Amino acid sequence: MRSISYGRQFISQDDIDAVVETLQSDFLTQGPKIVEFEQKFAAYVGADYALAVSNGTAALHLSALALGVKKGDKIITTPLTFVASANSILYCEGEIDFVDIDPHTYLLDLDKLEEKLSKSAPNTYKGIIPVDFAGYPIQAERFRNIANKYNLWIIEDACHAPGAYFIDSDEKKQKTGNGIYSDIQVFSFHPVKHIATGEGGMITTNSKELYDKLCLLRTHGITKDPDKLSENHGGWYYEMQELGYNYRLCDIQASLGVSQLKRAEEGVLKRNSIAEKYNTAFTDLDIQTPFVADDSYHAYHLYIIQVEDRKGLYEHLRSNNIFAQVLYSPVHLQPYYKQFGWKKGDFPVVENYYERCLALPMFPTLSNEEQDYVIEKVKEFIM
Ligand SMILES: Cc1ncc(COP(=O)(O)O)c(C=O)c1O
Repeated sequence: MRSISYGRQFISQDDIDAVVETLQSDFLTQGPKIVEFEQKFAAYVGADYALAVSNGTAALHLSALALGVKKGDKIITTPLTFVASANSILYCEGEIDFVDIDPHTYLLDLDKLEEKLSKSAPNTYKGIIPVDFAGYPIQAERFRNIANKYNLWIIEDACHAPGAYFIDSDEKKQKTGNGIYSDIQVFSFHPVKHIATGEGGMITTNSKELYDKLCLLRTHGITKDPDKLSENHGGWYYEMQELGYNYRLCDIQASLGVSQLKRAEEGVLKRNSIAEKYNTAFTDLDIQTPFVADDSYHAYHLYIIQVEDRKGLYEHLRSNNIFAQVLYSPVHLQPYYKQFGWKKGDFPVVENYYERCLALPMFPTLSNEEQDYVIEKVKEFIM
């Protein structure tokens, strides 16, 4: 049996054919595949606009720039995320503050967020970056209500959650990324994610104003749009109007994305059936399985359990060729973040989670036989 990692991409023959076709076409970058990927992704999540970028981190950075983050601006995020969610603010010389997680959902704790905001001077914070951790969708409607009350913007880090949804107070299904409640949502197409393009990312929004800013910033702050030029010397003429970046995706990657997107729905269903099988197998054992509320549909980028002897289980699985993973070491305890004064004990819920968490193999091509083997090895250690 092959070694089994916690996540893995799935590249089909159709994916390969799609990439080869682009390699043989006229455009390797900035061609038709980018636009097709953007339009199809926007339709998949139900957003008005989608902008393809070079990776999820670039998506976060551009979003922070488009929302005007500048020196000294204070932004709140969760300590349970990949460092990029917080780093994007530091890139703009902003400051990061954290709110601990809910011990059941592992998402940024909304009650603690409200408490913090209500005790802070008005306008202390500019925005919040909640994360759909492991693929469990945030209650975006509640975030919106809080954001409106305290005049905050929301960048939803949805890198783990394409295909997730929750039911809002009007009984409407709200797909992650549809832009109804968050100002901006960002996605990543790193190989362990739902859709793989090698490196890659997407930003979705329903704001034309933000979309226009994001387009400009993605390509050096340069525009060729005749309506936006201050002068016009001819067809070749362009202007750099902002300090932007080259954060573009290329057509080779986008063609892989378009092809992968066709299987996205199927992949989320498969992830849910894998989760159900794990849940059933671990019933009555000393294992905390993922919590999912009735009004939420999990996209299961990760399947995370909590156990007493996490290190022991991690090593037991490794010695049996199963590469479970610990995700994540809390951001506030990273050496770089400690320089800002964060220390152990600041966020006890996430710190306790970190001592006990383990992501078991979760990817659509995990076979029945492989999953049975993982379950057997987990049980062998726990029982
Ligand atoms: C929650 C979260 N945000 C942002 C990122 C950054 O995405 P990328 O690796 O595409 O830059 C990741 C990637 O792992 C992530 O898990």
